[in-house]
Amino acid sequence: MLESQLESLSRDAQARIAAALTPDALEAVRVEVLGRKGALAEISRGMGKLPPDEKKVIGKLLNEAKTQLEAALEARQNSFAAAALSARLDAEWLDVTLPAPGVRPGSLHPLTQIQQELEDLFTSMGAAVLDGPEVETEYNNFDALNIPADHPARDMQDTFWLEDNYVLRTHTSPVQVRGMAKLGPELLEHGTPLLMIAPGRVFRNEEVDPSHEHTFYQLEGMMVDKNVSIAHMLFFMKTLLTHIFKREVTVRLRPGYFPFVEPGFELDIQCLICGGPGCPVCKQSGWVELLPCGLVNPNVLRMGGLDPEVYGGFAFGLGLTRLVMMRYAIDDIRHLQGGDLRFLRQF
Ligand code: PHE
Repeated sequence: MLESQLESLSRDAQARIAAALTPDALEAVRVEVLGRKGALAEISRGMGKLPPDEKKVIGKLLNEAKTQLEAALEARQNSFAAAALSARLDAEWLDVTLPAPGVRPGSLHPLTQIQQELEDLFTSMGAAVLDGPEVETEYNNFDALNIPADHPARDMQDTFWLEDNYVLRTHTSPVQVRGMAKLGPELLEHGTPLLMIAPGRVFRNEEVDPSHEHTFYQLEGMMVDKNVSIAHMLFFMKTLLTHIFKREVTVRLRPGYFPFVEPGFELDIQCLICGGPGCPVCKQSGWVELLPCGLVNPNVLRMGGLDPEVYGGFAFGLGLTRLVMMRYAIDDIRHLQGGDLRFLRQF
């Protein structure tokens, strides 16, 4: 009688343990079945009246039932704990590989990067890095560079004129004039060559297209000393190009006219965007004008306060903007000043 009662109680308890959906429900089952006043305890109390041999059998069964139910309870409790843990993991997981929120680190504009590289290169060779104003006098921008008011060469550069004979400088060459006046006499009298570069922003009244902008960047270079030759000029320009492109580039030198140099040249590099056949950047020619240059015209030296009978020099006007376009294969100049972060974040 007790035996079958125990059996059905046990079966029933197992079913309720399996069906308990919360830790609280499970605890209620435990109290009812295994608690001090629970069903098993009641059976155990009823055993007192049994004859000893029956007592022994029932006692054993009772212990077995108790062990089994305790194990079932524990297993069910563990499954609740595991479910709770995985729910917590689902709710609290964190992807540590995601970019941190907040302001991203910025980067330098590609023009600034190239400018700084060239400043490092030229200062390592002993050059001074000079600055000049973007609003320049007509005199420094033209006259002192051997381009008098009635000279047709004024038409080569379409200029933004301001009041009182000021212009937005059309090139960095006026810094040649400023540099000679500021550093020339002192350095040259002490036997030190005047070697300088002047990077900066220049302006022309241009029709904007993939290769022309009204605002762009140049880097002027100038050296004045006794016995300066075209060989010196070529050395500096080749060093510059190898440094920037980290390889030999194909160049050609052809005559070019600029009133402030004599003789004057255009150093072109083979277009690195198309490699030669022609594209919008090289205006379908396969070559890109990058480095106009020449030996400083004696008139310019004289106007800069230096004696052309004693001193000579070379000058070049690197197109920094074009150089950037060549190096990074940028096929439209308008990206550089466009301010589009999708473009800028690539550098
Ligand atoms: N200033 C000239 C220009 O912008 C370039 C140049 C500089 C040419 C120095 C010769 C020497 O067109």
